[in-house]
Amino acid sequence: MEKYIKLLGSVSHFNKLKPSDLLRIINSGHLKKYRKDKFIYHQGDPSAGMYVLFSGKVHICNYNCDGQIQIFSIIEPVIMFNELTAIDGGPNPATAIMVLLAAGCQSPESQPTSIEEVTEVQGDPGEKITPESESDGGSGNKESEGKPDLDPIADAQQLWKTSAHANAFVVDDQGKNNSCAQCHAPINWKPTLDDIPETCLVCKFELEEPPPFISENDWTHVPCLVCHEEDKKGNIQPEYTWLEIPALEEYASVETTTELCLKCHEASKAPEHVTVVVGGDHTGMQCTECHQPHSSTTSCDSADCHPDVFSSTDSIVGHDEEHQDVSCVACHDSAGWEVGPDEELGYWITYIPWVYEINVGEADTIVETGIIPFTSHEIVLEAPCERCHFSENPWGLEESVEAP
Ligand code: HEC
Ligand code: HEC
Ligand code: HEC
Ligand code: HEC
Ligand code: HEC
Ligand code: HEC
Repeated sequence: MEKYIKLLGSVSHFNKLKPSDLLRIINSGHLKKYRKDKFIYHQGDPSAGMYVLFSGKVHICNYNCDGQIQIFSIIEPVIMFNELTAIDGGPNPATAIMVLLAAGCQSPESQPTSIEEVTEVQGDPGEKITPESESDGGSGNKESEGKPDLDPIADAQQLWKTSAHANAFVVDDQGKNNSCAQCHAPINWKPTLDDIPETCLVCKFELEEPPPFISENDWTHVPCLVCHEEDKKGNIQPEYTWLEIPALEEYASVETTTELCLKCHEASKAPEHVTVVVGGDHTGMQCTECHQPHSSTTSCDSADCHPDVFSSTDSIVGHDEEHQDVSCVACHDSAGWEVGPDEELGYWITYIPWVYEINVGEADTIVETGIIPFTSHEIVLEAPCERCHFSENPWGLEESVEAP
């Protein structure tokens, strides 16, 4: 609540008011989340009352005679809007559409027009909090009958603790890490004015330059709350979602686990980082069809995937003693990346190219590039031997081998 008081206090109409008054204003309205593309109110409908936009972005528009939409104003937080109708009680002079996920504070004059929207908003992960959530946990127990001590939350917790997501502390070579926290510890992350894309509107009120360094003690890694909401009692909800604006505890729904994972596993905000592209014969597979969502681990020859590639076959050249130190992807990659042994890993792997652009000044960018050992996700059946066994190969491998 405190943050909303602070936010409301930054609106010019309210900045002379005491926090207690601001609290009263907020309590007299309703805090509401509107999903993207949702109508907040319609032009001509009875007064929907006054709104304050705390986060997100809203288009105020009209319809032309031919039904085409005409945007005449794009508003950004923190700002008051539709206030005229709260004063004169007249119809809404325009239509408002949420274009970025946001929370608004609506005054009590709110009229039935928005009620349908409210019901729809309840489909939002943010609104799923129901008293039944406890019995949801109960139905989960049914699945684990015979294994009564298997609590999915505790289970997830255990697995998560072993994952890289629970051990994500980093510092760059200048001793800074706030910008890294965006993905390595989103709850700690304080956006600065220049690293803010349009989608993050926290900058509107986080004006001070945040401290560049967050200590390891304070580092929260990638906790449950980044991918799950908790209910009022602090129980983690099993549905996955995405903590889009940590500073406002704002979630955005994601369609698939891949969309969720790619919020961070998408490259180019730091050097030596890459985007995971699932391609080749695995195109269309979700990240969590292979990766356990909490331990994050997986392997090609796990029980669910290719358990007998080595045991059942002596006929496939490549699946043999000779190639024990060659990872599956080094042979089956279709992206054409370099391959080679990695000393640290102790086996052969693909080397993924990375690109990192740093903006310097108005128009100039420095582009850094390189390659790093990283498991290719573009996998096909074909595994040409010449990829490694070519003439004058640097590893001293047999130059010409018999393809199957
Ligand atoms: C909030 C950002 C974020 C999200 C969302 C996220 N990850 Fe990660 N992930 C990271 C970071 C940061 C690391 C690296 C941590 C470290 O080692 O410092 C990581 C590491 C990993 C690793 C280990 C990589 C390695 O080098 O061993 C795997 C595998 C992984 N994530 C899979 C996933 C999957 C699958 C999902 C979706 C269910 C996902 N991640 C969602 C941030 C994220
Ligand atoms: C856009 C999200 C994002 C940002 C910003 C980001 N990282 Fe990462 N980082 C990841 C993900 C995801 C991984 C795991 C996958 C991988 O290894 O690329 C990772 C992995 C790493 C690893 C390898 C971890 C390991 O255990 O092998 C290091 C080191 C690292 N990041 C450092 C940094 C530093 C330093 C910064 C800040 C300058 C930073 N990262 C910013 C997402 C990010
Ligand atoms: C990086 C994102 C991420 C983090 C962090 C995360 N989860 Fe999940 N969690 C998921 C995804 C994705 C699913 C759904 C998996 C699927 O449907 O394939 C899931 C599923 C679940 C479920 C449903 C039951 C199950 O096991 O499938 C529970 C319960 C759960 N998570 C609890 C937790 C808890 C507790 C934590 C913190 C310790 C946590 N999660 C951390 C992404 C995450
Ligand atoms: C077809 C199965 C499959 C799918 C789908 C998949 N992965 Fe992987 N991923 C793997 C395997 C296998 C590894 C290697 C694991 C190992 O060596 O421990 C891996 C490794 C990784 C690593 C660590 C890479 C490294 O070499 O350090 C990251 C990060 C990762 N996956 C993220 C993702 C993300 C994000 C998605 C979804 C966009 C995804 N994966 C989809 C199978 C898959
Ligand atoms: C040294 C290269 C090499 C390595 C390493 C390798 N493979 Fe293969 N793999 C091949 C070749 C060659 C074929 C046959 C391709 C063809 O039929 O065109 C093959 C075929 C396959 C097939 C099809 C099998 C079938 O019965 O038709 C699968 C599945 C497979 N590999 C999975 C894997 C997995 C999983 C790993 C890692 C555990 C792996 N491969 C490691 C070279 C390799
Ligand atoms: C990703 C790289 C890679 C690919 C692709 C690959 N190999 Fe190899 N091959 C190796 C490595 C590494 C060794 C082990 C060399 C050693 O242990 O000294 C090896 C060893 C061999 C050997 C034993 C002779 C030697 O050089 O030590 C034969 C024979 C062989 N490979 C045949 C094949 C055939 C046939 C294919 C295609 C189906 C193939 N390899 C594909 C990397 C590869």
